Amino acid sequence: MCGIVGYIGYDDSKEILLKGLEKLEYRGYDSAGIAVMSKEDVYISKVKGRIAQLREAVDGNVHATLGIGHTRWATHGPPSQENAHPHQSKSGRFSIVHNGVIENYLEVRDEYLSGIELKSQTDTEIVVQLIEVLYNEMNDVSAAFRKAVELLKGSYAIALIDAEDAETIYIAKNKSPLLVGLGDGFNVVASDSMAMLQVTDQYLELMDKETVLLRRERVEIQKLDGTVVEREPFTAELNESDIEKGTYPHFMLKEIDEQPLVLRRIIQEYQDENNEIKLDPDVRQAMKDCDRIYIIAAGTSYHAGLIGKQFLEKFAQIPVEVHVASEFSYNMPLLSEKPLFVYISQSGETADSRAVLVQTKELGHPALTITNVPGSTLSREADYTLHLHAGPEIAVASTKAYTAQMAVLAILGVDTANAKGIELDFDPMQELAIVANAMEAMADQKDVFEDLAREFLATTRNCFFIGRSIDYYVGIEGALKLKEISYIQAEGFAGGELKHGTIALIEEGTPVIALATQAGVNDSIRGNVQEVIARGANACVISMKGLDKSGDSFVLPQVHEILTPIVSVLPLQLISYYAALHRNCDVDKPRNLAKSVTVE
Ligand code: M6R
Repeated sequence: MCGIVGYIGYDDSKEILLKGLEKLEYRGYDSAGIAVMSKEDVYISKVKGRIAQLREAVDGNVHATLGIGHTRWATHGPPSQENAHPHQSKSGRFSIVHNGVIENYLEVRDEYLSGIELKSQTDTEIVVQLIEVLYNEMNDVSAAFRKAVELLKGSYAIALIDAEDAETIYIAKNKSPLLVGLGDGFNVVASDSMAMLQVTDQYLELMDKETVLLRRERVEIQKLDGTVVEREPFTAELNESDIEKGTYPHFMLKEIDEQPLVLRRIIQEYQDENNEIKLDPDVRQAMKDCDRIYIIAAGTSYHAGLIGKQFLEKFAQIPVEVHVASEFSYNMPLLSEKPLFVYISQSGETADSRAVLVQTKELGHPALTITNVPGSTLSREADYTLHLHAGPEIAVASTKAYTAQMAVLAILGVDTANAKGIELDFDPMQELAIVANAMEAMADQKDVFEDLAREFLATTRNCFFIGRSIDYYVGIEGALKLKEISYIQAEGFAGGELKHGTIALIEEGTPVIALATQAGVNDSIRGNVQEVIARGANACVISMKGLDKSGDSFVLPQVHEILTPIVSVLPLQLISYYAALHRNCDVDKPRNLAKSVTVE
């Protein structure tokens, strides 16, 4: 979603900001802009569209050593040049970039901004106008900035520059991610460390409701009452090569290929020298203590939660409910006596999940976050964190984080079983190693999936995925992958549900991708395949070795039955990838989508 970068130093800020914004492109955006300042002149350039267009629009002759930049994902007002950030105050003195949503922007406008003509439809412009109004009353920029921030309700990460002060960037944060990066003779600010890895790997974490005065040689963190806060920097775990495509045409393909490596890394990270599971003892205790688990997640992470429920119930024998984060608050179930909330989130920043976390923390319930980004909001605010170790996932379509989520949930399930003294004839590390090998074998057969994508999906309007038991959950993940990157209308269904309505949609040539990896339901899913073929469907069956039948489109290498979802999703990822390519879609940055969904 929206991204922020800011730089103050002695080099040309324009280029640093543009490069930073390019690194944030993966998050999804529809417009972008920068404001840079030299000798007390502010130069602003904004475009609706891509950073490449912004780069072209920016005047190369401008040399400025301080600036802020932004990628916008529209919330208040459509994508347009007027609504793109930075926004300026009435006099043009203050320029601002903002991520998040100001919930009380209409109240602020009505109370403080009468007589001021707004140039955009954004909540952000309200903030910069408010700062100027307060400055006119207080005559102190820093105090006016803090006062304005105090009046705001909602989520924000803000960077502000003042045309009359070439020495400071004003920063504030609440619920939206924002980091300060430290350099020698310069300092930076960014909503994601990836944006500024080009210049530093030293970062300062910011807490909610803190403000910062960012100067060339000095960084001052303050609470809203002006009290100064001291904080030690940390070193970013990433380096620049982790976030490059290398020889791959797309991040998505690179990340699909990385999956065996990620599984092996997870095995390493979660195993001690005696080949026992290595897990934070507090997490183990929390799992032992609870009487029911509530998994909260969105999108692909929700799909991983559905599979995780199988692992946790079957291995650890704990009842599990899986909830879509954005719906949870409206329909909060009757909770058990000792619930444990498990938040699954690749980014750790999903606002829908965080809203539930805030709510369940208020109720006093323990929370575990399973995330790819330790230090993210969901990780910091939960009691415990399990790390996915998947490495940065840049493509909007989640692939390696999803398989990592399932792997970590399987390990967690077995560990809890061990802790509870439940005997299992299942070695998760050995079985995951077999899964990693199977994934590798499949990734080497990409031409098969490219052909399947061409054969089944090249011209279709829609596509259905069917499966029974855990194959059903993999099917809905396959459908999500296909629709988000190829824009083919796709849905996943339980095989048995077809006859209750969906089968009406099957017509001559409708592609139906069926998963057949579960022995107990092989005959029934095969029956469903025959039903759709009889109605003209073009059926593509992906089966597991041992359960395969002649005519199947692809046979997966055999892995332990309960772990098949970690393997069977790979063909669906690749088929979606090639379908999107055949349709000339922007695979890594699909339209309207954001990598990290930081608004509710
Ligand atoms: O970062 P999270 O895992 O919390 O994100 C949740 C969803 O937004 C995410 O999985 C989304 O559905 C992906 N684009 C799917 O590929």
